[in-house]
Amino acid sequence: MKGLSHITKNTTFVIAGASGDLAKKLLFPALFTLFRRGYLPQPTYIVGYARSKIDHDTFIAQVTANIKDPGNDPDFVAQLDGYKSILSYQAGSYDDGTKYDELDKYLQSLEANFPGEERNRIFYLALPSAVFVEVAKNFREHVYSKSGSNRLVVEKPIGNDLDSAQQMVHDIAKFWMEDETFRIDHYLGKEIVKNILVLRWANGFTSGFWDSDRISNVQITLNESFGTEGRGGYFDSAGIIRDVIQNHLAQIFSILAMERPATLSPKNVIDEKGGYTDDDGVPKDSTTATYAASVLWVNNKRWEGVPFILKAGKALNESIVEIRIQFKDAPKGLYDDDISRSELIMRLQPGEAIFLKLNIKTPGFESGVVSTEMKLNYKETFPSAFIPAAYEVLVRDVLNGDHSTFVRDDELVAAWKIFTPILHWTDGKDGEPKPVPTKYKYGSRGPNGLDDFLAKYGYKA
Ligand code: NDP
Ligand code: BG6
Repeated sequence: MKGLSHITKNTTFVIAGASGDLAKKLLFPALFTLFRRGYLPQPTYIVGYARSKIDHDTFIAQVTANIKDPGNDPDFVAQLDGYKSILSYQAGSYDDGTKYDELDKYLQSLEANFPGEERNRIFYLALPSAVFVEVAKNFREHVYSKSGSNRLVVEKPIGNDLDSAQQMVHDIAKFWMEDETFRIDHYLGKEIVKNILVLRWANGFTSGFWDSDRISNVQITLNESFGTEGRGGYFDSAGIIRDVIQNHLAQIFSILAMERPATLSPKNVIDEKGGYTDDDGVPKDSTTATYAASVLWVNNKRWEGVPFILKAGKALNESIVEIRIQFKDAPKGLYDDDISRSELIMRLQPGEAIFLKLNIKTPGFESGVVSTEMKLNYKETFPSAFIPAAYEVLVRDVLNGDHSTFVRDDELVAAWKIFTPILHWTDGKDGEPKPVPTKYKYGSRGPNGLDDFLAKYGYKA
């Protein structure tokens, strides 16, 4: 993949599906943050495109409703007004080429204000995946800039199993080159996920314990205290494995398990992440649509015998996303046999933090062992740091042409290869019986049997 240039000027974003939930809740607020912090090219226009007939004022109100005034910036109101002045909306169609021609004319009318000849266009598919290919094709055929850089940002999900994902990748690739295509997995934009590479390779000591000699098991957990409210239709056809495990948790897994890349270039990093295609997949342990716990094994020397437990669920007792690396028992003989195991815990949310759970001497005259935590809480350690939201990171990376936080075609296929057998099994395909669902109560810790499942794979509470 050849390197892409940084886009620094004369840019138009076209957000397809701008009338929708993602656009309102996450994308337009993220673009505002980049605008007010000076990270958008100069000048920039942002054009919403969708089928709904929405007048200008209603559109502006919709896409700025989720932007909150922090209350500590006297420039905020002026910045928001400035942002609103670069927003506009065009109603159109997803399958009618003439509507895209009209959109192209409209973009040209905006671009007439740009200095010089450069015209960069970023097309964002904030749409249901059923229309990804059609819209990608029409953007390429009718709205592609002839005098600048063009980038296509594709949301998830791409496909619902291996075959359909490969088909969609292939169909989009007929119109957009791989280096123009940015497949979103917003977990790759999260601060703690981006920190894993640094933690692993910018510290001499971490490489000494990052393997099966020291590590007993790894858990990657995404628990949400809310259900599928408002997205039940989509979720019903997807289920928790397709929704977050096959993509978000599999991405974290690959960064934890990968070998050291030769350099930090997107190509080298993604090549190493892609090494996980050798896994022999997940056992058929998880059956429920809203909760799943699965185990991946990595067939190489470094990870021989170390289970990576990927678990996620909706409607649980708390919202927490964390990576928990549990080390093997300390050598026996000096202290009680039941002392706690050490753990390295990286908490993605709520509140970025890194903990090292370790044993120390019980303070005072006691000579026993007590388990405690060394804690790096980002808010306390970096009180004035700006930690960007995932979509802010990713939109900026699109502008910078940095693919390392996006999903390359072969990575996507590798992730689907791992999960398609279990998905077909739980879908009741391949002649297998449909598993009996295990129910759990809204607000509970998850299905009964979870603790046994974790214990089976070596986790000691
Ligand atoms: P929406 O259901 O809100 O759809 C976005 C827009 O697409 C709608 O406003 C509608 O616009 C159009 N649309 C809806 N259904 C159809 C259809 N069947 N055929 C054609 N157009 C349709 O989706 P979201 O905004 O929630 O999600 C957009 C993308 O982002 C999806 O791929 C989703 O998986 C992904 N995503 C969403 C997240 C979220 O929090 N919402 C989080 C992570 C990813 P109109 O009718 O005006 O054309
Ligand atoms: C999305 C899933 O991709 O990720 C949602 O579709 C899930 O179901 C969300 O809630 C979790 O993302 P975050 O950033 O809120 O942890």
